[in-house]
Amino acid sequence: MSDDRRHDHVRDRRVQYETAGLDLEHLDSSPVTQWHRWYNEAVEADLPEPNAMVIGTVDTDGLPDSRVVLVRAVDDGGLCFYGNYQSAKGQQIAATPMAAAVFPWLALHRQVRVRGRVEVLSVAESDAYFASRPRDSQLGAWASPQSEPISDRSVLDEELAAVAARFPGVVDRPPHWGGWRLVPVSFEFWQGRPSRLHDRFRYSRQADNSWTITRLAP
Ligand SMILES: Cc1cc2nc3c(=O)[nH]c(=O)nc-3n(C[C@H](O)[C@H](O)[C@H](O)COP(=O)(O)O)c2cc1C
Repeated sequence: MSDDRRHDHVRDRRVQYETAGLDLEHLDSSPVTQWHRWYNEAVEADLPEPNAMVIGTVDTDGLPDSRVVLVRAVDDGGLCFYGNYQSAKGQQIAATPMAAAVFPWLALHRQVRVRGRVEVLSVAESDAYFASRPRDSQLGAWASPQSEPISDRSVLDEELAAVAARFPGVVDRPPHWGGWRLVPVSFEFWQGRPSRLHDRFRYSRQADNSWTITRLAP
């Protein structure tokens, strides 16, 4: 494809969203229950990695950053995800414990957006999740200085071999690896509709922890 045609392809690509739409009466009063409904539909539709979310944080200059992580629990407490506390996101969250996430369930013409504060999970919660991971992933958490420059891939292979020898049996959780909980102040459910007149509903958390639901213009 020529450069011109490639640009036209991006500019002119359009999908009509002929979906049934979303009505207030179909929404659960709890955004967590509504999220699980849509998640189950994403699973049933065989979407790749339906628990993947793009999570945005800001650095100390206020410059936003974002990356994909896998959500491992969604309940009334919030959305849990895991990684390296010394990584870029770990440092950003430590300095500014707030984040925004989006689940891009594009094949269903849907997205869910979540904004809120971020808490570090308790040691017991991180230990429990770490213990449930496959051994290779556990060793990888030790071997990778996530987000640090490395000279070569061999650095990782050598670290992996060293840590496998150090932990022939149970692998301890590295102190620099664990989880966070995004505690939502809002959820937004977006359903694509024809003519770009999509349906959007935002749940906002009230002081008494109940949720109000507002329809937003697309
Ligand atoms: C599908 C997918 C799932 C991922 N899941 C995670 C995850 O659960 N935790 C994690 O730390 N990084 C995960 N990553 C890698 C992150 O996107 C990112 O590269 C890494 O966390 C370093 O980001 P940072 O430098 O902003 O900290 C995933 C990437 C992809 C594409």
